[in-house]
Amino acid sequence: MTLTHNPGDGRGPFGTGFRTGPGTGTVPQTDPYTRSDPFNRPPEHEVAWTDPVTGTRGWLVVHTLVGGLATGGTRMRAGCTRDEVADLARCMATKTAAFGLPVGGAKAGLSLDPRSPGALGVLERFFADLRPWLERSWVTAEDLGVAQSDLDAVFARLGLDQSFHAAMLRSPNPATTLDRVRAGLAVQDGDGLPLGDVIGGYGVAQACLAVAASLGLDPAETTVAIQGIGTMGGGAAWYLHEAGVRVTAIADAAGTLFRPRGLDIPALLAARDHFGEIDRATVPADVEILPRDAVLAAPVDILVPAAVSYSLREESVADVAARVVVEAANSPTTPAAEERLAVRGIPVVPDFVANAGAAAWAWWLLQGQVGTDPQDSFGRLRTEMQGKVAFMMDAWQADRIIPRRSAWGFAAANLTALADREITIP
Ligand SMILES: NC(=O)c1ccc[n+]([C@@H]2O[C@H](COP(=O)([O-])OP(=O)(O)OC[C@H]3O[C@@H](n4cnc5c(N)ncnc54)[C@H](O)[C@@H]3O)[C@@H](O)[C@H]2O)c1
Repeated sequence: MTLTHNPGDGRGPFGTGFRTGPGTGTVPQTDPYTRSDPFNRPPEHEVAWTDPVTGTRGWLVVHTLVGGLATGGTRMRAGCTRDEVADLARCMATKTAAFGLPVGGAKAGLSLDPRSPGALGVLERFFADLRPWLERSWVTAEDLGVAQSDLDAVFARLGLDQSFHAAMLRSPNPATTLDRVRAGLAVQDGDGLPLGDVIGGYGVAQACLAVAASLGLDPAETTVAIQGIGTMGGGAAWYLHEAGVRVTAIADAAGTLFRPRGLDIPALLAARDHFGEIDRATVPADVEILPRDAVLAAPVDILVPAAVSYSLREESVADVAARVVVEAANSPTTPAAEERLAVRGIPVVPDFVANAGAAAWAWWLLQGQVGTDPQDSFGRLRTEMQGKVAFMMDAWQADRIIPRRSAWGFAAANLTALADREITIP
């Protein structure tokens, strides 16, 4: 294992800068994203790791510590790189700061196919070598290719209580805190689903409702298209439908489904398989079946990319018919696409606010700010998400300040306010 400090090069998805592109309008922010983003700096710490048994490479990148603590998931995928982990760590740091959570941002990744034999053994050796971080400073969670149940099993074998062990150290009575947090994690929504699985999508839906309000639209006259209908996109679709919004287009990995008067979201979600793909045999005859990327051009008020990174690229911008983009996936819009959308008058509500619901909820739970009544959790997230999105949309409508830039502003201010604060978990 090698441990290095501050070796980051500061490059990231905004490394090419914020150039002015062709278009009809003007956008006042002409300075590069790299200069505007207060989080675009080298990480505070990083660990590069090589498995002595298989040679698998892995990384822990701690972008920011707040009160000595950082949070961020552990992913496993063949081809994972140090730069990918560093970008995700920075995104986590921005996310926790945007919500004023008393914890910094981190991420870990292993370049390994999670289905390969012995993958859990690699994960266990990785965590064994990272034990000092897990014991004192880093709270991890499931991520791409790593299920929470796998993490829990590995943590148990290593003799660590659970993946939020480091946070428990800040509690005067860890056993009581653990009982309280476990009770909170077991809470279900009204449909019997664990809150932790649905609250991220609920937050995206609240971001969309705030956008609709800023456009002067009632939910019933708002239309939405969603790319990706898994945990995030499916949750967003569910709560938007429940709020009376017409979700007229959705896409999974197999294609786009479109019905201008609104899709039957509960029925389509019920027809999904384990990978979030809808059984086409169940799709009613009046639903148009279109190519996969057609969702990006759907004639709607709000477009929600909720599938993969970099799905909304510069070459697709001319086709976008939505008035606003709300990012549910991580980094679904390339910087060049975001710039061209802004020039076309289409703001992008950034990922690190719109998709932060689950991360924020977990820390509210740890801090005892929400408990076992799901309405407290939904209410808190609704208030915080709608407030932040309304602020960004106001700044966009009044002065054409891109939402990501407004959000960087309040995230940086929150981080400054949290600096050197002693973190205690009740
Ligand atoms: N799950 C979370 O708690 C969470 C939290 C924050 C951010 N995110 C981000 O949200 C995104 C989606 O995560 P998820 O957990 O919902 O994933 P998921 O695996 O549950 O669902 C992915 C969905 O996207 C569809 N899809 C895949 N490729 C597609 C393509 N090219 N075009 C259209 N649809 C496609 C799949 O069919 C599926 O419906 C990821 O970027 C993830 O990092 C997830």
